[in-house]
Order: sequence, then structure tokens, then C-alpha cells
Amino acid sequence: MRILGIESSCDETAIAVVENGRKVLSNAIASSLARHQQFGGVVPEIAAREHVKIILPVVKKALEQADCGWQDIDAIAVTSGPGLVSSLLVGTTTAQSLAEVFQKLLIPTNHIAGHIYSNWLYSTDEVPSEPEFPVLVLTVSGGHNELVLVKNHHDFEILGETLDDAAGEAFDKVARILDLGFPGGPIISQKAEQGNVQAFDFPRSMLNRKDTFDFSFSGLKTAVLYAVQDLGTVTEQNICDLAASFQEAVCDILCGRVLQALEQHPDVKEVHLAGGVSANKRLRIMLQEKIQGRIFRHPLEFSYCTDNAAMIAGAAYFYHQKHQLKKYELQVNPGWELAK
Ligand code: KG4
Ligand code: ZN
Repeated sequence: MRILGIESSCDETAIAVVENGRKVLSNAIASSLARHQQFGGVVPEIAAREHVKIILPVVKKALEQADCGWQDIDAIAVTSGPGLVSSLLVGTTTAQSLAEVFQKLLIPTNHIAGHIYSNWLYSTDEVPSEPEFPVLVLTVSGGHNELVLVKNHHDFEILGETLDDAAGEAFDKVARILDLGFPGGPIISQKAEQGNVQAFDFPRSMLNRKDTFDFSFSGLKTAVLYAVQDLGTVTEQNICDLAASFQEAVCDILCGRVLQALEQHPDVKEVHLAGGVSANKRLRIMLQEKIQGRIFRHPLEFSYCTDNAAMIAGAAYFYHQKHQLKKYELQVNPGWELAK
């Protein structure tokens, strides 16, 4: 089954064609990131206008790259939440129109479920092994920070989530404090390579609380702000040390929670990392070290870490395998929670 995925929940306009939920035939992405950089974050109205301009050319590109015509597509999957409402409306309206014109099944898909399925994707001739349930997934991006127990396909239990900022958001805010631009993750991790992780003793917020798997990053962000204020003049080496100490604290918090969850769920076979922050090298290394004995996966390509449509087509395929409906109800839901 070939599914054309559409993702437009934030600033990426992404279209992909995926076969049987895993094999990526094309993964086209246009991003309006550059238009938002001067504002230090995504401006919803600009993102929506850019989606309108670019979405149909990206659909065309994805079909061409996959060497497919509409006759080769069996269904259309679209992100219908969570996300920015104006951005979601462009993707869902486009998906609905295409589904109507070309008489395709339309599968509305949850964005976080998409990130979870990003670890199932591949594009090479070599087929990676099929993940084995139960899987513990840490989804960490700019908008989301969840620890999810995946018991089977689309059988999710959220063990923990953030009470304030998501990890990626913390990277972005700290980058703003250090005047490093947006998005913060890539530049902070680059600066951290030249820094000392022990230069600043930042808090590992909430990690000592054993009654919850929730996260909190706003105290850590404030600690960085105070450290910068205390320094007065900030040198390049200070920036690298702040970046390294901050990144280490984020990784300790995320990995600490994963370990605590594994203690409570010893039957977990695999640990997966997903979302934009899964591109972070230090986090990958630390997590792999800590979960010894279990299979560790992160998205096989960088483009599967950040927002993309292949993950949406992948999640939709397994959703449809499970439900097999002739028609799915499309609801645009900016606050759609995965499960509770
Ligand atoms: O998944 P994504 O593209 O969008 C959301 O759904 O939010 O994630 C974007 C986030 C940004 O906050 C960005 O700073 C972060 O992922 N990010 C990273 C790295 N690359 C991207 N964070 C830490 N280290 C990285 N290498
Ligand atoms: Zn995302």
C-alpha cells in the first residue's frame, strides 16, 4: 500500500510517498524557517502563508521523486493535530481536496504518532529489522516532550510529559539568551563540543521526584540566564562552557527519566528516540550507553528527526492496518493529545 503523507503542522511543508508504512519512496520538504529567524521563533501567520504558496509544488515534487502518478497512490495521510491551527488548515484542506478529486482514502494522523513511527522508516534496499513491542519512545522536539510506552501499533500510554517547556524549546530559549540565533539545538550542540560540561552546575530539575515521569526545563533555562547575568561579560569560551553544561543537564534529565521508566517496565524490548532533538549526538550517545542490553534506535536519516511527511504516512499505514475503515472522519485538532 502506497500512502502520500502531508505534514504542515508548523513551519515545514512536507509531502512524502511511503510504501507499506516503512519504505520511503520520496520525502520532499520545504521550510519557511528562514522567514522566522529574525523573530526568534515560528510566526504562525507567516508559516500559513508560506504553506499556501508552496504546498502544491511540493506535492508534485514528492510524486516525481517517488516516480509515481496518482494511480499509484492508495491513500492520503494528513497531520490533523497537534500543531498551529492556521498551518494545519492548509495541509488538511489540501489533503481533503486531493482525496476528493483523485478518489483516495483520507487518513487523519496525529503528529506525535508520526514522530513515533519515524524510527520505522528506511530508504535503502537493505530492510532494517521490525521493531519489537513494547517500545519506550522518547519524543523530544520544539513543541513536544513525551515519554511514551508503545504496547502495540497505535496503543500508546503517555508515561510522562513536560510541565512547562519542551527540551527543544529549552535549546531554543537558551540560544536566544546566548544570542546564537534560531533554532537553538544545532548551534548549541556545536558550541558544546568546545565546552566543559562541568563548568556550570545546572539543576537536573524534577529528576529526584520518583512519583512521576514528567519533565521540567524552565528552571534550567532560568539557571542559564542567571549564570550569564553573573558573568557580566561573556566570552566565546564561556558560551561553549554554558552550552556544554546546559546540554549535559538536558541529556541527564531525559536519560534519567528513561532509566526510571525502564525500571518500572522491565519488559520493554527497545528504546527509541524521536523528534528534532533526537538529532543531538550527545543525547544519542548517553542514551545508548545507559540502556545497555536493549535495542536502541533513532531515526535513520536527519530528515526523519525533524518534521517530515514520511513519518505521517508511516503512522497512517499502521493505523489503517489496525482499523481498516472505509472512511475516516477528518477533524482539525490543534491540541490533539496522543493518549492519556
Ligand atoms: O521536530 P521538530 O522539527 O519540530 C517540532 O515539532 O517542534 O523539532 C525542532 C526542534 C527545535 O527546538 C530545535 O532546536 C531542536 O529540534 N533540534 C535540536 C537539534 N537539532 C534540532 N536540539 C538539540 N540538538 C540538536 N542537534
Ligand atoms: Zn514535530
